[in-house]
Amino acid sequence: MEKQEIRTFGRRHGKKLSARQTMLIDTVLPKILPTNMPANTGKILEIGFGAGEHLRDLALNAPDKIIIGAEPFMNGVASLLSAITDDNGAIRNEYKNIRIFADDVRDFLRHTDSQFEQIWVLHPDPWPKAKHEKRRLLHAEFLTLLASHLTRDGEIIIGTDHWEYFEWIQNQVTKTALDAHTPDIQTIHTRYQQKNKAGTIAPKYLILKQQP
Ligand SMILES: C[S@@+](CC[C@H](N)C(=O)[O-])C[C@H]1O[C@@H](n2cnc3c(N)ncnc32)[C@H](O)[C@@H]1O
Repeated sequence: MEKQEIRTFGRRHGKKLSARQTMLIDTVLPKILPTNMPANTGKILEIGFGAGEHLRDLALNAPDKIIIGAEPFMNGVASLLSAITDDNGAIRNEYKNIRIFADDVRDFLRHTDSQFEQIWVLHPDPWPKAKHEKRRLLHAEFLTLLASHLTRDGEIIIGTDHWEYFEWIQNQVTKTALDAHTPDIQTIHTRYQQKNKAGTIAPKYLILKQQP
């Protein structure tokens, strides 16, 4: 993270990692960094994948694409690594298209020229207190950075159960050159969605595209 940037995530480390999780971070993570990716293969990015349930679904549903996940919370990264490897620490065949950037996505985006067909942001930290509003990730400037990494028909898919943040994001979108629509899609299940900390009846979703 660049020094002057405000931190958008809560913490990098939670409870102590198991020996297997530490081994996976030391030996597997360096092999699946999002570097030297083939130019002619479609790419999908998920920002803040948490424990990676949705990221794994993306990998299974799009085996011909590279699925890149960015997440600075190392316990989440370790959970994903556990789920995509076998008992010997080898990546399971069906997850060989996954790449992980275990840090702030803004650092990744500034140093890659990759374009993405989809960029997913499910349940971004809502930072509900007014004094923390500056920590919200999906402000207009960041959405514009995301837009610069979309393929021509690419989409940013956002979901949150925090309806006040949802409206705040919609307002931010009006300050960008993106078109927004609210799709009629079923709830996408993730760990955070199941906690439903906001107490709303369902998450709301937003799809953003470059204006034609
Ligand atoms: C509320 S959690 C949701 C996790 C997951 N998407 C889910 O629905 O279960 C938000 C996640 O976004 C991550 N996050 C926050 N700021 C980020 C950033 N700048 N780059 C990448 N991930 C970030 C946090 O570490 C956290 O794991």
